[in-house]
Amino acid sequence: NKKAFIFDLDGVIVDTAKYHFLAWQKLAQELGIEFTPEHNEELKGVSRVRSLDIILELGGVDASQEDKNKWLIQKNEDYLSYLVDIDESEILPGVLPILKYLKDKNQLIALGSASKNARPILEKTGILPLFDAIVDGNDVSNAKPDPEVFLRAAKLLNTTNENAIVFEDSVAGIQAANIANMTSIGIGDAIILHEAQYNFEDFTFIDFDFIDALIN
Ligand code: G6P
Ligand code: MG
Repeated sequence: NKKAFIFDLDGVIVDTAKYHFLAWQKLAQELGIEFTPEHNEELKGVSRVRSLDIILELGGVDASQEDKNKWLIQKNEDYLSYLVDIDESEILPGVLPILKYLKDKNQLIALGSASKNARPILEKTGILPLFDAIVDGNDVSNAKPDPEVFLRAAKLLNTTNENAIVFEDSVAGIQAANIANMTSIGIGDAIILHEAQYNFEDFTFIDFDFIDALIN
């Protein structure tokens, strides 16, 4: 039996969600907008462009397209500056054993991320070869909770939505998986991610018996 395991990137595979937060917070501060970790939950899983709009709405700021473009570039440059030296140590605890177990069991593995920086991150952390398909922010036009990113991944893997399992740390991503009729697994705070079918604080809490049950 072959299932498709679709992984979000930021905050699921790698510990980059904190860098997105820092870069957005820096920008918000410069714009005089209060931006807290609670506000940040709304940005998780959401595209860069949409994230900026949410922050500007938060501060009641009405900006020109020119300013917005400038800020998007600035945020991404700040974000990338945190990633210069990343390596496999950026992979979150428990992720690698699960990825390797799925490979051993001949299961399909895909990335389903809103990030346009996904490929270089997978390369730098050395796990790019583990993926059978990659769908990222360069491939989709609709941000999560729109299920486009996951639907594309399932299609690339030639599998039905019902046979796909999604790992997500964002509310928007869990909603996208649910809309697509895929199995949704929340990674992180169970209260924030209460819409997920299953929830684990992190991958160290997922054992191989659980994975076997998903496969069979
Ligand atoms: C992911 C992250 C978001 C990020 C988005 C776009 O979904 O959870 O925080 O804004 O990707 O990432 P990018 O690297 O293209 O700015
Ligand atoms: Mg994420």
